[in-house]
Amino acid sequence: MTKIRVLNVVGARPNFVKVASLMTAYRGCDRIDPVLIHTGQHYDEAMSAGFFRDLGLPHPEVNLEVGSGSHAVQTAEIMKAFEGVAREMRPDAVLVVGDVNSTIACGLVAAKLGFPLAHVEAGLRSGDRTMPEEINRVLTDAISDLLFCTEQAGVENLAREGVAHDKVFLVGNTMVDTLLRHRERSKASTVLEDLGLVGNLRGGGGYAVATLHRPSNVDQERTLTGILDAFEEMQADLPIVLPLHPRLRESLARFGLVRRVERMNRLRTAAPFGYLDFLKLVDNARIVLTDSGGLQEETTALRVPCVTLRENTERPVTVEIGTNRLAGTTPEGILASYRDAMAEFEAGEARSSVPPLWDGRAGDRIVEILADNLG
Ligand code: UD1
Repeated sequence: MTKIRVLNVVGARPNFVKVASLMTAYRGCDRIDPVLIHTGQHYDEAMSAGFFRDLGLPHPEVNLEVGSGSHAVQTAEIMKAFEGVAREMRPDAVLVVGDVNSTIACGLVAAKLGFPLAHVEAGLRSGDRTMPEEINRVLTDAISDLLFCTEQAGVENLAREGVAHDKVFLVGNTMVDTLLRHRERSKASTVLEDLGLVGNLRGGGGYAVATLHRPSNVDQERTLTGILDAFEEMQADLPIVLPLHPRLRESLARFGLVRRVERMNRLRTAAPFGYLDFLKLVDNARIVLTDSGGLQEETTALRVPCVTLRENTERPVTVEIGTNRLAGTTPEGILASYRDAMAEFEAGEARSSVPPLWDGRAGDRIVEILADNLG
């Protein structure tokens, strides 16, 4: 029996976490021959290789090594490099995840070469076309043949856009699969001791974790300064751990804000964490402040309160039934949401549930559907 060859594309940090679940699930399916392709969109040890190790991902069969660039340059370089690989490998399908430039670039190449395209995390919509990820989502879904959704809102968005319903599958969340699989292992991490946070572990943890990397937040001096104003006030109340994504690090330097951050006594910056360290850090945090998409989902799965520093979210289920609240990006909005979340938590009123199918089995469902529909 010839196996169904599926090229699985990863490029940026959140992709590694999602595909890790699939690579595990493929082991239970003898009908598929999975091939892992890394575009090299993220390439630093901390942003890439460390994740491969923590997640037990196999070495990619091919690394396109495209690196950074403007959107057009990065997308074009990935397309040029991936076309040759796809032609040579002649897969039965190409699978892309999430909403990064690697997702649309490889999706477009697959569709043009006539290879069936599967999109994991389809249908999410923020409604905000100024977000590069929103463009990537809409376009990738428009050319996909199999669309795997994490939440019901995704299914409904695709129906509204006229995608045939027999191509759409609500399967759950591969990022949550990976989180549940590694949560026990993450407990061995010494990150809390390393950061001197152990004495702060009262109840739900006596510290906050913050992450910032979205261009709309970190590339605008006024917005970034406003967010730092909010952090300054918060850290007087609760220590904050802020790992620096390369984009944030560059912006702090460009806007002359490094000294300001250093002067905040209880705000602790750090290099980006590995997967297991970061999972432990978030799992024990009192609250998370973020503009990341994935972290809104991970905090929901862990039932850790989350304040999202954005005006909108493409993951509405995390607000409707999870722990997430949208704060916007002004200092007043952020502080108000932070105080509400803390008050609710202290009063023991925080109620949340985990969305349907976020049960650790999304990867298995996807692999089964691929095996039944391809080849
Ligand atoms: C990308 C994704 C974003 C995702 C994020 C996760 C797009 C459009 N954006 O954003 O959706 O949430 O990844 O982190 O695809 N850099 C390094 N080392 C690296 C990678 C990047 O130093 O390994 C620096 C470079 O200066 C680069 C900048 O970070 O120019 C931004 O990287 P890029 O891949 O363009 O976008 P992200 O902001 O990481």
